[in-house]
Amino acid sequence: MRLRDKTAVITGGASGIGEATVRRFVTEGAKVLIADRNIAAAEKLAAELGADVSAIECDVRKESSAQSVAKKSLDLWGRVDILVNNAGSELNKTFNETTSDEWDMVLETDLKGPWMMCKHIVPSMMAQKSGSVINVSSLNGLVGFPLSTAYGSAKGGLVVFTRDIAIELATSGVRFNCVCPGVIETPMMERWTKLMPDQDAAKEMLRGVMPIGRMGYATEVAAAILFFASDDSSLCQGSVLSVDGGFTAQ
Ligand SMILES: NC(=O)c1ccc[n+]([C@@H]2O[C@H](COP(=O)([O-])OP(=O)(O)OC[C@H]3O[C@@H](n4cnc5c(N)ncnc54)[C@H](O)[C@@H]3O)[C@@H](O)[C@H]2O)c1
Repeated sequence: MRLRDKTAVITGGASGIGEATVRRFVTEGAKVLIADRNIAAAEKLAAELGADVSAIECDVRKESSAQSVAKKSLDLWGRVDILVNNAGSELNKTFNETTSDEWDMVLETDLKGPWMMCKHIVPSMMAQKSGSVINVSSLNGLVGFPLSTAYGSAKGGLVVFTRDIAIELATSGVRFNCVCPGVIETPMMERWTKLMPDQDAAKEMLRGVMPIGRMGYATEVAAAILFFASDDSSLCQGSVLSVDGGFTAQ
């Protein structure tokens, strides 16, 4: 019960890494608000997990959503202890096939969204002089890949954003840290393989990307997020943790 009596907002909590994080946080004693644009999936998960889990429709690209999530979490619990900025949008296109709208969509979801959630939730954490924010970046935020200029720019920006806000608020009692997952088996990865002409070959290729020779599980990323959410990481401020089966160790 490493999160006993803690309250947590998890964006994109209805699927994949976010869903695994919701499930892990609940088993560790937290109360959770799932903020997801897929409200049907979010409500289904909340109903399955019981009274400690609520859901709210949210598009992290919209400031009105960030305001609604902040209000609902304070109405529910009077405080927010943990914010997980996990909602993300992928794009696999060459730099010149990427349209201006696609660039904006990815940057707004993966970079502006976390900033806006912080803008509206972190002030209450500052007032209570405690809190933990975990941003879910990516391997793509640390190293270069083809077809990744928009996604990689957003995720790299999220790493830098984490460090900057961690320093700006270093003495506030609020901690900001970042996890960078490698190749993780989630619906997002399924969508990527479906774009490939040979899906079996694409999955085989993905299994070989990380030195450990397999894809990661969403639960393994959730465990890293739990570390930053819990008091076990009390000395971590602006940390960037690769959860990538050795990829960035090469
Ligand atoms: N799967 C991987 O291999 C991998 C690797 C590195 C990083 N990541 C990152 O992990 C995070 C979770 O990815 P996943 O693989 O679990 O994806 P997923 O597609 O399984 O889940 C993403 C969730 O975010 C929600 N969402 C998307 N856009 C949203 C928006 N604008 N507002 C609110 N909710 C929104 C979706 O409805 C969904 O529930 C993302 O930030 C992703 O970039 C994933």
